[in-house]
Amino acid sequence: MQLSAEAILKTLSKVQDPDLKKDLVTLGMIQKIKIEGNKVSFNVVLTTPACPLKEVIKNNCLEELENDFGKEVEWDIFMTSQVTTVRDAAPVLPNVKNIIAIASGKGGVGKSTTSVNLAVALAELGAKVGLIDADISGPSVPTMFNVEGEQPSVKKVGDKNVIVPITQYGVKLMSIGFLTPADSAVVWRGPMASSALRQFISDVEWGELDYLLIDLPPGTSDIHLTMVQTVPVTGAVIVTTPQKIALADANKGLSMFRQPQINVPVLGVVENMAYFTPEELPDNKYYLFGKEGGKRLAEKYGVPLLGEIPIVQSIRESGDTGYPAVMKNGLTKDAYMNLAETIARQIAIRNASESKTEVVEIKA
Ligand SMILES: Nc1ncnc2c1ncn2[C@@H]1O[C@H](COP(=O)(O)OP(=O)(O)OP(=O)(O)O)[C@@H](O)[C@H]1O
Ligand SMILES: [Mg+2]
Repeated sequence: MQLSAEAILKTLSKVQDPDLKKDLVTLGMIQKIKIEGNKVSFNVVLTTPACPLKEVIKNNCLEELENDFGKEVEWDIFMTSQVTTVRDAAPVLPNVKNIIAIASGKGGVGKSTTSVNLAVALAELGAKVGLIDADISGPSVPTMFNVEGEQPSVKKVGDKNVIVPITQYGVKLMSIGFLTPADSAVVWRGPMASSALRQFISDVEWGELDYLLIDLPPGTSDIHLTMVQTVPVTGAVIVTTPQKIALADANKGLSMFRQPQINVPVLGVVENMAYFTPEELPDNKYYLFGKEGGKRLAEKYGVPLLGEIPIVQSIRESGDTGYPAVMKNGLTKDAYMNLAETIARQIAIRNASESKTEVVEIKA
């Protein structure tokens, strides 16, 4: 076949993205085709950083191209990525592509630990990431990122004062812990906490982000309502541990997002503390709290199980010392990197298949 951009696109329209179940051309993923003699280069723009299917997609492209154009052509295929969004020209946070809420029913199941490691993992995959600590009465982000006592600066943009987030380990951070002394017992009334969260969303200079994670307090509080009333949330990740009590609460947490007045798509369930593993014997798994509770919860609601994170002593220690576990090589790093890839992928699938989330109207 004669080499032309048109002919190449026609061939590549036979290759599907296995996740999005559409062909690469329809998805607009083929860009910058350059033909020089019998050398052709082009970009495949995937929708998630470090897409696990990268090699499969590249090989499928090559196979179809060689079928149609013979073996004489030299193909240079560059696999790049651009995170997708369903948020267009939003008035709040216009340059943030995806807002992801991390929630649970029960307290202490590991929302903050998951949020922190997920944020660092996504940044390591090459994404631009921010994290809001929405737990106003019990902030944990400053400690978990080893930035306790740091104070964000304020600058003027036009006639508005904006807060510059603290950046650590490649992640932009905002927490009430940066604005109040660490050991002060500030008692926040509901409306004050809500207005603090609104400020974290609207008055912080987040800039361009692929993912802005929101680490929520436990349960179903005012803060959740404030969040969905302030900004359209792309999706929610539900964290649970495998015990019966945690699962019962996770049920409530999950159904809250499905209520018509909230209506945030649930991206899936993370089972934290899924089993105990001694780091020196990683093949030994002890199901202290029961087996596969998270999986059953996910099945019940027809959402994916995004990952199972073991209980490992170093996860707790690294949270306390401010060096997220995902930064050290080993089984915990693998678990969190896999989780980050799966979540990025679910976000891309959600953006390709569902319509945008609307801000919830405040009804008096
Ligand atoms: N997979 C894990 N392995 C070991 N320890 C863990 C793991 N996940 C969380 N922890 C520890 O459990 C405790 C509670 O975790 P975390 O603060 O993340 O929970 P949370 O759901 O955010 O709590 P809260 O509801 O109070 O916000 C912390 O000490 C944390 O280090
Ligand atoms: Mg927390």
